[in-house]
Amino acid sequence: MSFHVIQQAPARLNRSELAVPGSAPQMFEKAAQSDVDVIFLDLEDAVAPDDKAEARKNIIKALNEIDWGKKTMSVRINGLDTHYMYRDVVDVVEQAGERLDLIMIPKVGTAADVYAVDMMVTQIEDARGYKKRIGFEHIIETALGMQNVSAIAAASKRNESLHFGVADYAASTRARTTIIGGVNPDYAVLTDPLADGSRAVHWGDMWHYALARMVVAARANGLRPIDGPFGDFQDPEGYKAAAKRAAVLGCEGKWAIHPSQIALANEVMSPSEAEVTKAQRILAAMEEAAAQGKGAVSLDGRLIDYASIRQAEVLVAKARQIAG
Ligand code: GLV
Ligand code: MG
Repeated sequence: MSFHVIQQAPARLNRSELAVPGSAPQMFEKAAQSDVDVIFLDLEDAVAPDDKAEARKNIIKALNEIDWGKKTMSVRINGLDTHYMYRDVVDVVEQAGERLDLIMIPKVGTAADVYAVDMMVTQIEDARGYKKRIGFEHIIETALGMQNVSAIAAASKRNESLHFGVADYAASTRARTTIIGGVNPDYAVLTDPLADGSRAVHWGDMWHYALARMVVAARANGLRPIDGPFGDFQDPEGYKAAAKRAAVLGCEGKWAIHPSQIALANEVMSPSEAEVTKAQRILAAMEEAAAQGKGAVSLDGRLIDYASIRQAEVLVAKARQIAG
């Protein structure tokens, strides 16, 4: 290990994160009753310019009056390039800061963007005498944000998570797609001719690099990497496939842009019983190996060693966190 110790963000459950437009208060109660881990009330892209002021009021009222239970509550503010953003921060933190856990910063491009919001939030918290510190979640969804992802991840003690905003990322990088998430058949490999002369097409995941890059920056800074939206809410299989790819790379959650996606995210992002049992067997086998002075042993015909302990501990810790 490096001598550098990575400080971990507060251990919040973040398997699913529901997007709820601030301009749709009729959706708030249902969201509060759902099984989602994190809710972000949106002031940004789901809200039309003329509705921004009203949406802000709705969100402040809802944070203060609705019983959100133990859910982690976030607000997505507008981008730093808009004049809505300062009022989003001032009004929401001043008037509802005590029930607000996180602020989601969209289209973050540089570490200085994080610094600017940190400065504003710190002043408001101090002026109000809030005891709790509000955390930050950042959407990595522009070429600039991806270029600076490591600096952004390290930019504030408030940082908790990085989110891959696939829709805006596609727009920013001018990727050839018009859907939100999912795959494009043009991103494929054509095999050489097979024995019967035919050629197979293997679809690739055009988001692989971006997601993997973000996961590394998040983990290197003790933050949660979270996969963003999947637009086709009538395609649960497609959603689950995308969530599984993200989970395999190290993401611990995925957005739900529709309530039906909450259960799918919770399922995919929770280790299965079989995985947890296997992890517990690895830990037991390694404990026995250590008692015999061995650093590596075989379990079910496969080598396990000290790295296996660390992998197994991640799974067991996650299962414990979910169990509550
Ligand atoms: C989310 O904000 C996205 O652009 O995908
Ligand atoms: Mg976006």
